[in-house]
Amino acid sequence: MIRGMARDEAWVTEVQVCPSILAADFGAFRAQVGELLDAGARTFHVDVMDGHFVPVITFGHDVVAAIADDVHERGGALAVHMMVQEPERFAADYAKAGTDSFTIHIESTQHIHRALQIVEETGMVPGVTLNPGTPVALVAEAARYARNLLCMSVNPGWGGQAFIPASLERIAQLRALAGPGVGVEIDGGVAADTIVGTYEAGANRLTAGSAIYRQPDPGQAYLDLVEQVRSAGATIG
Ligand code: DX5
Ligand code: ZN
Repeated sequence: MIRGMARDEAWVTEVQVCPSILAADFGAFRAQVGELLDAGARTFHVDVMDGHFVPVITFGHDVVAAIADDVHERGGALAVHMMVQEPERFAADYAKAGTDSFTIHIESTQHIHRALQIVEETGMVPGVTLNPGTPVALVAEAARYARNLLCMSVNPGWGGQAFIPASLERIAQLRALAGPGVGVEIDGGVAADTIVGTYEAGANRLTAGSAIYRQPDPGQAYLDLVEQVRSAGATIG
């Protein structure tokens, strides 16, 4: 297994448009990831759901393992978003499968400090996230121990939902909590009409599912989003 970019963590703070494979064809992950690698995407967002923390079940670490070499060989990274109860139980499996960053919900464990420590010990970049109804202040302490702060701009569980406008304020609050070397990610409803606002509010990892994979030409949809962010003054990593 090639653990590509985990050694150099600059990727966490680069401005990147990150395709979320939740919106991809589940029967063709490798091909659909390959298509986006060809278009220039490097960080892929992987949504793991357990049917408890959210009502939906998606997939587990074997899916990460199935795409990890392709992504790492091209200098890319795999950013796992755990929508799972007590996600720390699975950290070692995901690290072994080739995960580069492992982001967990503050609402999903009683012991967020210990959970982030467990993630750190595996060598993955630890991340913390929160549901749209959870005050940002609740992650202020955990943010000390995380290097990715993910702002959910929809309720976790489904792709294709509308961006919640208050998320822009929340991105700015998370950016204020982020020290040097810490990334701020936005996830949910990121599309042509919302992406620039999320970048301007302070997000650098701009995750988009439907706006890429549910378009007639996903590679071109990715490039169009990148171009929008570039026009707003960003250097894309
Ligand atoms: C939702 C997931 C998101 C999802 C976003 O629970 O966390 O990552 O893929 O999908 P879109 O971009 O379609 O809102
Ligand atoms: Zn996600």
